[in-house]
Amino acid sequence: MTAQREAFSTALQSATRIEFDHVSKQFDGNGARPAVDDVTLTIEPGEFVVLIGPSGCGKTTLLKLINRLYDATSGIISIDGAPLQEIAAPELRRHMGYVIQQGGLFPHYTVAENVAIVPGLLGWDKARTAARVDELLRLVGLPPEEYRERYPSQLSGGQQQRVGIARAVAAAPGTLLMDEPFGALDAITRSRLQEEVRDLHQQLGQTVVFVTHDIDEAALLADRIAVMREGRVLQYDTPLNVILRPADAFVAELVGADDILRRLSLVSVAAAMVELDAAEPVGPDEPVIDLPMRVRPALNLLLESGAPRVIVREGGVPVGYLDLPAVQAVSVPHVARDGA
Ligand SMILES: Nc1ncnc2c1ncn2[C@@H]1O[C@H](COP(=O)(O)OP(=O)(O)OP(=O)(O)O)[C@@H](O)[C@H]1O
Ligand SMILES: [Mg+2]
Repeated sequence: MTAQREAFSTALQSATRIEFDHVSKQFDGNGARPAVDDVTLTIEPGEFVVLIGPSGCGKTTLLKLINRLYDATSGIISIDGAPLQEIAAPELRRHMGYVIQQGGLFPHYTVAENVAIVPGLLGWDKARTAARVDELLRLVGLPPEEYRERYPSQLSGGQQQRVGIARAVAAAPGTLLMDEPFGALDAITRSRLQEEVRDLHQQLGQTVVFVTHDIDEAALLADRIAVMREGRVLQYDTPLNVILRPADAFVAELVGADDILRRLSLVSVAAAMVELDAAEPVGPDEPVIDLPMRVRPALNLLLESGAPRVIVREGGVPVGYLDLPAVQAVSVPHVARDGA
């Protein structure tokens, strides 16, 4: 490996910046409409971006352009400023974790062997690999003593997804691509894994591109949401703005923006609260909630308590408060209607 390549490999292991500049992907024989149509957007290092949109709108295609499972028909994708075309695809994929819907584990490999695939390709020694495998299995809630020697067929769907996630982050890639990783799971497993992915992202700080159909999942996980339709990105914004200020009627309907209770159950208290002045006194009897929490359950608490406001804490420290005007401010629709 040349010094330049080596430096680039190292760079790919820290959170990457991914830029799409007028990128289109046209499949042969797929009619006139490109699967991805003139997409321009930037994903900042360490950002958690969620792609959402109806079936067939191009989410998977966009994701696969990032690790060069597909190459763009036109436009340029660059990673940390380097055009993808200049990076060999296998090299790129070694540094990008990829999780697909049904786990995609190798059935004849044990859990440990599955997780160790990329470290193996990177030439890690046995001890380092084994330690990393155990560490990750613990991190995704699978005690290594119990699970390392099992085969995928001896795991539940949720456990397979956990192994898929552990495998994807095994070599500490700077980029994690996740294509509807929890689509096939029951609601409880799904919500547990969402929390785990969020914690993992907070700990590891990779750049994550995550595909889902589910606006609740998107609102929970995303720093920014890209709403897609027919290959185009209609809106690329924070969950709060997508929910409160949908770019058009299509986005409004997709995120259920007309339903106030739904909006309140999607918006986080952190986004709705009034920040507390450090000098402002907090009464000993004021009701308290802890972040993270959505506005809807917080509103229940506020109403039940009969108090004029609830104090919002983060890590035990009061950081703001939520009162009825604050709730109202995130309830009022700002839907940009077509032609309005
Ligand atoms: N390998 C391929 N060859 C030809 N056409 C393809 C190929 N892959 C995807 N397409 C087409 O490109 C469009 C976008 O597909 P894509 O898989 O990206 O959608 P998606 O948003 O991921 O959908 P879903 O939510 O159902 O997974 C679709 O019209 C699809 O039929
Ligand atoms: Mg897809």
